[in-house]
Amino acid sequence: MDANIFFGSTQGLSKNFTQRKSPYSGGVVSRACKCTKEDAQKALKIAQDAAKEAKKTTLAQRCNWILDVANKLEASKEDMAKTITDEVSKPIFFSRIEVDRCVETLRLSAETMRTMHGETINTDAMSSGKKTISYFTRIPVGVVVAITPFNFPLNLAAHKLAPALVAGNAVVLKPTPEAPLTAFKFAKLFIESEYAIKDALSVVYGDAEVGGALVSSDIPRVISFTGSVPVGEIITKSAGIKKISLELGGNAATYIDASADLDLAAQRCAYGAFVNSGQVCISLQRIYVDAKIYDEFASKMARETSKLKVGSPYEDDTFLGPLIDDDSAKRAYEWVQSAIKEGAKPLLEVKCEGRVFYPCVMADVRDDMAIVCEEVFAPIVSLVKVESFEDALPRMNNSPYGLQFSVFTNSLDITKRAIDELDAGGVVINDIPTLRFDIQPYGGVKLSGVGREGPRFAIEEMSEIKSVIIC
Ligand code: SIN
Repeated sequence: MDANIFFGSTQGLSKNFTQRKSPYSGGVVSRACKCTKEDAQKALKIAQDAAKEAKKTTLAQRCNWILDVANKLEASKEDMAKTITDEVSKPIFFSRIEVDRCVETLRLSAETMRTMHGETINTDAMSSGKKTISYFTRIPVGVVVAITPFNFPLNLAAHKLAPALVAGNAVVLKPTPEAPLTAFKFAKLFIESEYAIKDALSVVYGDAEVGGALVSSDIPRVISFTGSVPVGEIITKSAGIKKISLELGGNAATYIDASADLDLAAQRCAYGAFVNSGQVCISLQRIYVDAKIYDEFASKMARETSKLKVGSPYEDDTFLGPLIDDDSAKRAYEWVQSAIKEGAKPLLEVKCEGRVFYPCVMADVRDDMAIVCEEVFAPIVSLVKVESFEDALPRMNNSPYGLQFSVFTNSLDITKRAIDELDAGGVVINDIPTLRFDIQPYGGVKLSGVGREGPRFAIEEMSEIKSVIIC
């Protein structure tokens, strides 16, 4: 066991021993030992010392480090993809895509940091000013705590680790409890690299007790969390004075205008609603459709959805595997049943076999049904008939969340209004709100969180500006 991968109490690995079972087969796929809060404190102290050393390293060394991890990950793509599929049952096709994205996130972080620099400031522009040599530069914050979710256990970890480390920080990662081996293999690539900064990355595997110890400590200067709103609220209350970046999900919506390409819209909406079984923070959950094309769109949407293969995550052409656990499948099923009782109509058979929840397209929904107004995080999408974009806009915005929205339209006027008036961290025109390029700023408004990810924006969050005046 590597010194700074705390996959277990330092008192003995048999303590708190847990087995990770495949959500699909129920078989044991990995094992890890839960850390204690003492382990978390120890990891923070190690990081605190490492941060002092990291600050002295050159950017070239740090870029070489991150690029080395990218190259090694690329070389072990199939093994990592299989590990993701084992632990969270993501269909293998999408696990491979996640590894590819991760490699690019790593490379992009190094490339971005190479060219991020401060600026000179004209202090003599002020009425009371004078000529000085003045500029600002970026300095590392010190220690970053990264807490990651199960739905993209690799790439969302990369979105925190790579910007933090290349900016010259030390990191303590608390990975999702659902994917310990994915985190372990990823961390090993960093720790065993010939360019590694010693002890700059530690991993503590554990639950809320460990998370609480990391967040409430005075050592970290940034907490970067992706996960649920309730946990985000706890972090906000217990973190004290430090920077917090929270990516907390949403109930993403799109509007289908009568002028849109309906075949394209239906095909993309089926993808956006059901990829990763809806377990994506920007999963398409609400589709507001112009009444003039509602029936046509609804039948295209049902047809596109019925083409998606549900089944074993190990088969190359499987689109939907199981949900992450029994509770998630049970909750999704109950929400759909309760919507049906209140008058909603499923356009396809509602089917749930264990954790495998078949893609569900619901019509005749009301805005106050849980499947519409809550974050479903399951393969359920609702169609809502509207008179116009004017009618759709306030209903799309009527949500406690605001991560990404989209519209499908050929109207420039609707495009401009969507960009101006949709209350979200991101707006996509003519594609799904589920579209994310890792280079983009990514994050939300309202309960969807604070701060932005995407290498350049995460580096900004994970560094401080230092202002310099030489008189
Ligand atoms: C998320 O669920 O927030 C991540 C979505 C993505 O990276 O595609």
